[in-house]
Amino acid sequence: MPHEARAVVALEKGAPVEVLPILVPDPGPGDVLVAVQACGVCHTDLHYRDGAIGDDFPYLLGHEAAGVIEEVGPGVTDLAPGDYVVLAWRAPCGQCRSCRRARPWYCFASRNAGRPMTLLGDASGTRTAAGTKLTAALGIGAFAEKTLVAAGQAVKVDPSARPEAAGLIGCGVMAGYGAAVHTAGVGSGDTVAVIGCGGVGNAAIAGASRAGARRVIAVDLDDGKLDAAERFGATDTVNSRGTDPVEAVRALTGGHGADVVIDAVGRPETYRQAFYMRDLAGTLVQVGVPDPDMRIDLPLLDLFSRGGALKSSWYGDCLPSRDFPVLIDLFLSGKLDLERFISETIALDDLEAAFARMRRGEVLRSVVVV
Ligand SMILES: NC(=O)c1ccc[n+]([C@@H]2O[C@H](COP(=O)([O-])OP(=O)(O)OC[C@H]3O[C@@H](n4cnc5c(N)ncnc54)[C@H](O)[C@@H]3O)[C@@H](O)[C@H]2O)c1
Ligand SMILES: [Zn+2]
Ligand SMILES: [Zn+2]
Repeated sequence: MPHEARAVVALEKGAPVEVLPILVPDPGPGDVLVAVQACGVCHTDLHYRDGAIGDDFPYLLGHEAAGVIEEVGPGVTDLAPGDYVVLAWRAPCGQCRSCRRARPWYCFASRNAGRPMTLLGDASGTRTAAGTKLTAALGIGAFAEKTLVAAGQAVKVDPSARPEAAGLIGCGVMAGYGAAVHTAGVGSGDTVAVIGCGGVGNAAIAGASRAGARRVIAVDLDDGKLDAAERFGATDTVNSRGTDPVEAVRALTGGHGADVVIDAVGRPETYRQAFYMRDLAGTLVQVGVPDPDMRIDLPLLDLFSRGGALKSSWYGDCLPSRDFPVLIDLFLSGKLDLERFISETIALDDLEAAFARMRRGEVLRSVVVV
């Protein structure tokens, strides 16, 4: 029997999201049904709503969630009803060319549920025809009472971490933390600059700090975000609204620039800043997701003569089954303050207002409690 659930749906590009009834199928082979308990609002949800990720509307939003397994499909042996899980948007397939080359953190064919969730249809039945297939954001779709995912996407973690905090490692925290620790490989004594101190950027600051960086410079346009950055481990802050951040970071690093710069905004101007903010042979890690129409123009000679590495970080190059339990342990032992990311808890119906607050830069994370 399929399950009815209330869920946040983006019906068309740029339109306000709506809470609509959906049908969640029973789990097929290899899939699990999850009762969602909490789900953070990531900037990527806003990108989906605005049509910047794709045009496969309607989207079922939400992808930073914790919950409890309700049913398991045929063949699922390592999860059982009642298990407490954080959902991941990467479940390595083991078969693709990247997995076969022992690089499962790039998996090019990550697993998702085999059956689609669909609209139940509204009273008039015109705008939202019953049976319309939903595209689950990042293959999750967790701004919903229930969702269906591949078993590999549901990672068991210690249930003493409350879902509002635990869910955050499902995207933004893992992406930022992993960008610093895995993609950039920040090591002892490195100088690091992070541009954009939202949920993702502050997690990168926490990661860089834990990895032993001697200097972690936070750059943002908002003083409130910079205050938060200091509490996550930033040693210095730069408000780039009135200051040239490239000059400021050079001044803080003996005139040289940082060994690692993480762009957690994803705009041409922040990429350019990140590029020139590096020391010679430094590493740039792009984590922020740009809009499709954005372009960047750099002198080819500068790319050559400044050297180093220009990388993108997809999900912090994480392996959820390895890394989620580790981050939860860090949280429970007081070494990673997930609670500090939570600016507010809201209901499913409040998502559009939360997007507005995110646009105005008022929150680190709004967390939907289902
Ligand atoms: N690569 C990945 O795997 C991955 C995963 C999750 C999110 N993301 C992306 O990371 C980005 C950040 O996500 P978030 O949830 O932290 O967003 P957010 O909205 O919470 O934070 C963005 C921060 O950037 C600051 N900012 C905006 N423009 C700036 C500028 N020009 N200079 C300096 N600071 C600026 C804002 O003040 C805010 O503090 C988004 O683009 C999101 O889509 C990527
Ligand atoms: Zn996200
Ligand atoms: Zn794979």
